[in-house]
Amino acid sequence: MIPSSVIEDIRYRNDIEDVVSSYVPLKRAGSNLKGLCPFHSERTPSFVVYRDTQSYYCFGCGAGGDVVNFIMRQENLDYVSAVEFLARRAGIDLPDFSDENREREGPSRTRILQMNREAAKYFRKMLFDDNAGAAGRDYFVNKRGLSSLVIKRFGLGYSPMSWNGLRNYLSSLGFTYEEMKTGFLCGQNERGYFDYFRGRVMFPIIDLSGNIIAFGGRVLDNSKPKYINTSDTPAFKKSKNLFALNYAKDSGEDTIIICEGYMDVIALHSAGFTNSVATLGTAITAEHARILKRYASKAVLSYDSDAAGSKATERAIGFLSDVGIDAKILVMDGAKDPDEYIKKFGREAFGRLIDGSRSRFDYLIEKTLKKYDVGNADDKIKAAGEICREIASVYSKVEREIYVKKAASALEVDPKSIFLDVEAAIRKAERAKKKERSGELIRITSGISDRVNPDFVKRPKTARLEEDLLGMLMIHPEYISVKLDGGPAVSESDFFTDLGKRLFSHIKAQTESGTFSTGSLSEKFTFDEVSRAMRMQNNRRELTNDETAYLTYLEEIRKENAKHDAKATLEDIISHKRAGN
Ligand code: UTP
Ligand code: MN
Repeated sequence: MIPSSVIEDIRYRNDIEDVVSSYVPLKRAGSNLKGLCPFHSERTPSFVVYRDTQSYYCFGCGAGGDVVNFIMRQENLDYVSAVEFLARRAGIDLPDFSDENREREGPSRTRILQMNREAAKYFRKMLFDDNAGAAGRDYFVNKRGLSSLVIKRFGLGYSPMSWNGLRNYLSSLGFTYEEMKTGFLCGQNERGYFDYFRGRVMFPIIDLSGNIIAFGGRVLDNSKPKYINTSDTPAFKKSKNLFALNYAKDSGEDTIIICEGYMDVIALHSAGFTNSVATLGTAITAEHARILKRYASKAVLSYDSDAAGSKATERAIGFLSDVGIDAKILVMDGAKDPDEYIKKFGREAFGRLIDGSRSRFDYLIEKTLKKYDVGNADDKIKAAGEICREIASVYSKVEREIYVKKAASALEVDPKSIFLDVEAAIRKAERAKKKERSGELIRITSGISDRVNPDFVKRPKTARLEEDLLGMLMIHPEYISVKLDGGPAVSESDFFTDLGKRLFSHIKAQTESGTFSTGSLSEKFTFDEVSRAMRMQNNRRELTNDETAYLTYLEEIRKENAKHDAKATLEDIISHKRAGN
């Protein structure tokens, strides 16, 4: 645990306005600041930074929290790393709490990393072993044309056809079978523990600190599955890591090339495109996009030239543009992926493909025009409709203007008509969004669905009072010891939702051991729960939160709970009587 005094110091020296505005342009709005939310895509600002409470809240997506929470989301860090990040930013020297904290999060993250390092050594040794590694070497060198320099640079290896080679090796170093299983190196069946990776060429996955966090293993023939990848372990999250980002981040380029496969990345790096990465057997996620944003402002998407690749491209573009990465699309003919393309046509040809990569909009127009026959009037209208909707989704007016012109000339129509259609599409999208937003609010407040506080729906009236009370307590934690006339001060039993109970206990514990601040929530609660807590606090903004108001709420809650208990008792008695009859 990082002592709360240290956290407070860090929060104090990292003013939320300074921190947030280094990521999001903010404008003054009354005593607060407003901007476009970095956590969802929007065209009208609904992201508010409150200086008085040093917190933020987005009225669009509901994300909220303090400066630590903001950094956790924005930089994709866990709690401890976000605190470290802010300490560095403010020039505060932190003792190293990280390991003991991480140890608590994942029981054996450090052990798994040590074990992975040993495993990688073993795979490497096997690849270069005269007998055991012959098949692997033949594959890499002869079939895939890799130089020994590249093999060494990427730390490639080979897992021999053995059920327990790695298991026994790791065991001799003192790693337990349980650890091997947790680390996804071994599986377990009736006969015991066995190596997962057998007869595969091995690709270690290295994080930005140089830890080996996972492996991918490819078969040497056409058998299935083609790749086995480490699934999520205490040391690894697929959705947060990219293959070769550890090298690509030092390429000195502001553009990142994103492709689908390990072998594509390796081929690209060998050909001198050291700014390329791949996701790990998954589609790109919003988290990936946020991570990439730290290293590059531009991206070239170089996915396979098949239907799956083009679908993945569209998805990726969305996530990348959400975080402000200017993404272009590389279109490849005559080869299925970058690896094959470079082998066939050479690195210069691939360089020309990069130079000729299309903007998202040109790519889209090209695709739409291919889909429809614009000589046909009906088709032309459909194509125009699709393109207008796309233009409408672009935030920048200047950009929209450029696209309107391009679309008009591609479709051979008057730019004015395109412009009018786009304006109409924007209004329509805004109406839909408003409706959706109020729908969401109604669903939550009426308790039809509530993912974050699922008990809410059971007794919405009381739950709403509860959330108000918690909101007040977060503003005035000192109320926690104020006694209600003729009754005790607030306690956990006044709350009936699980989230309410947990929030209350946390506020209480923090208040008793010093001071409560909303910043401490990020350590114990999920993003959604923190956001919800911030909403409770924000709902109390501009309302009366004096002691009298607080006690009125507490009294009301107790009345509601008493009513509920009485009803429950009555039902109990009735059902007992029935049973007795
Ligand atoms: P591809 O099938 O395009 O493979 O999958 P590839 O990378 O081009 O491999 P080669 O050239 O045939 O050797 C692209 C990526 O999808 C993931 C892997 O990350 C792979 O690099 N994948 C694919 C899996 O995770 N599992 C599979 O079974 C197949
Ligand atoms: Mn390939």
